[in-house]
Amino acid sequence: MGIRFGGDYNPEQWPKEVWAEDLKLMKAAHVNMVTAGIFSWARVEPRPGAWDFGWFDRVMDGLAGAGIAVCLATMTASPPPWLSRAHPGILPEDADGRRRWPGGRQHYCPSSPVYRTHAVRLVEQLAARYAGHPALAMWHVGNEYGCHTRQCYCEVSADDFRRWLRARYGGIEALNAAWSTAFWSQAYGDFDEVLPPRTAPTFPNPAQQLDYLRFGDEALRACYLAEKAVLERVTPGVPVTTNLMPQHKPVDAFAWAPHMDAMALDFYQDPYVPDDHIRAGYVFDLMRSARDGKPWMLLEQAPGAVNWRPRNGPKPPGAMRLWSWQAVAQGADAVLYFQWRQSLGGAEKFHSAMLPHGGTDTRIFREVAQLGRELAALPDIEGTRSRADVALLADWPSWWALELDSKPSTALDHSRIALDHYRPLFEAGVACDVVPPRRELSGYRLVVVPNLYLLTASDARRLTAYVHAGGQLLVSFFSGIVDEYDRVHPGGYPAPLRELLGLRVEEFWPLDAGRSVAVGRGTYAGRADLWSEAIELEGAEALAHFTDGDLAGRPALTRHTYGQGTAWYLGTRLEATLMRTLLDDVRAAAGVAPVLPGLPTGVQATLREGTGGGYLFLLNHGTRPVEVGLPTPMRDALAAANGADGADGTDGTDGADGADGAEEAVVDRITLGARGVAVLTEA
Ligand code: GLA
Repeated sequence: MGIRFGGDYNPEQWPKEVWAEDLKLMKAAHVNMVTAGIFSWARVEPRPGAWDFGWFDRVMDGLAGAGIAVCLATMTASPPPWLSRAHPGILPEDADGRRRWPGGRQHYCPSSPVYRTHAVRLVEQLAARYAGHPALAMWHVGNEYGCHTRQCYCEVSADDFRRWLRARYGGIEALNAAWSTAFWSQAYGDFDEVLPPRTAPTFPNPAQQLDYLRFGDEALRACYLAEKAVLERVTPGVPVTTNLMPQHKPVDAFAWAPHMDAMALDFYQDPYVPDDHIRAGYVFDLMRSARDGKPWMLLEQAPGAVNWRPRNGPKPPGAMRLWSWQAVAQGADAVLYFQWRQSLGGAEKFHSAMLPHGGTDTRIFREVAQLGRELAALPDIEGTRSRADVALLADWPSWWALELDSKPSTALDHSRIALDHYRPLFEAGVACDVVPPRRELSGYRLVVVPNLYLLTASDARRLTAYVHAGGQLLVSFFSGIVDEYDRVHPGGYPAPLRELLGLRVEEFWPLDAGRSVAVGRGTYAGRADLWSEAIELEGAEALAHFTDGDLAGRPALTRHTYGQGTAWYLGTRLEATLMRTLLDDVRAAAGVAPVLPGLPTGVQATLREGTGGGYLFLLNHGTRPVEVGLPTPMRDALAAANGADGADGTDGTDGADGADGAEEAVVDRITLGARGVAVLTEA
């Protein structure tokens, strides 16, 4: 089938006369997949147990007739009004005990057995009805779990939490030990006394908060799994997925990954953030890595502006195409949008769509159709894979624990720290995986640990073994501090990494807001902010020191040879240019080369390879044309697809339909226009 291309299809918003036109225009835009019915629950079950699928049958049949595959939604993301009226207990509550009312969407408590029962009942109906339907290609369960209702604190959730805790700890004394309840007279006599961490007079117990985040993630996953179980039974072999959100704290993508037949992501690059493509790069790499490099799906993006930021910038010409190709370049086998046809009413009427209010004679529709044609012309990209020598570690439990209150500093932001470390790798053009600490690391030349505040003893042993066997490891500040219950590892910071790093941190010295300090020595001279710490060397060498402030003269950056490998340690946040220097040095020590040497600034290069050959993707994130020299003469596959010089920009919209007849240029250098894209294959 090639790369999937299409979007959310919400036909219930339109009279059925419009549906035929939808199909015609989808074909014109080269749509080959839609995700249909995401918010259709109230239409297919207008009254309890009264099913009305007739209209949806016509939608499915029409799509099948047009040869468009359906990633069929289970329709459970927004319960119908009758359900919350009959069972107000399904409504979620926040940490202050305030109810979240119907009227928006996702107004259900994930632990509610009533919600789950009704959701599963609907999924039974859907699965039975559309099993074997020629349009059914995949299942899309729920929608963006935890987007609006991140956690629920109601009594039903409290009961479910206690059940979860009993299973986790067995006895109340184990919970008391794990939660350090000797502190502040919190010792529990029985599980029945335990509550969710609702708003308290002061900091709720951190281990209780951490477990509630774990529990919240599992409660959402239980909803997903309950529906998935039905789908696997009734439609075996049809892949099941759900759309995750980027850097979404309530949902641990690594824990969900084994339950998803394809990773799927919604990503909305912000046109007003000049380097948002680097954040995209990080999340795309994480999606690909979560299932060991298997292709993933960009299940939603905006064709133009969104409606939910304070100011919603349109995507300038070429940006949507560029960012879509970026997803493919980083391993996606699907590029879909929210949504097909722009709504006339409702909360998202000013959110762009593939088919805008202005119809087909619009820039957005033309750009969508051009991209559809390009993707359709290169079907063999599907299934190709990429490999990386660098792994960047990320971990949800550590993220959760890091950002709890009552810390040396509450200014430590997991996502920001991760990007500080990812950015220099991205800018250097290095292929990178983003993996959890439990992943096998021996295949990587370099492992980067931006921050692992929470590090289990066994993961610390694995990092130690990795370096001992010859790996290069870079660890940054405030890592290896607590165990999985947010209890400090005894023995001086960071106890489980001390021997490996060859140092000890005696005191944390977070820097005040707006304050920076100088760090020095040769190429590492510059400034640092956010964090510092008093490092005592125990075998490591200092590569740079703080040169002013309270810690003047103490190490800021160290290196320690351990076994066959080297462990680097950074005790502060370096300004971006110094981070680039550091990552370049660490990379050089590890022998990690960029995908393509000598790339102009702002150009991203990635490789995907398969049995039928490889693809080199070149993406110019800048707004000036640049020339890129190729290592060997290559075929400009995208220019061929556009029937013209499509590689140097965003024109060619009206070019020949498909590659037929187009001259397939072999080139040894290529000019990328502003936001230009090139896809090259072996000549
Ligand atoms: C999310 C949701 C969609 C829609 C878009 C708008 O991705 O899944 O239903 O609300 O946001 O950007």
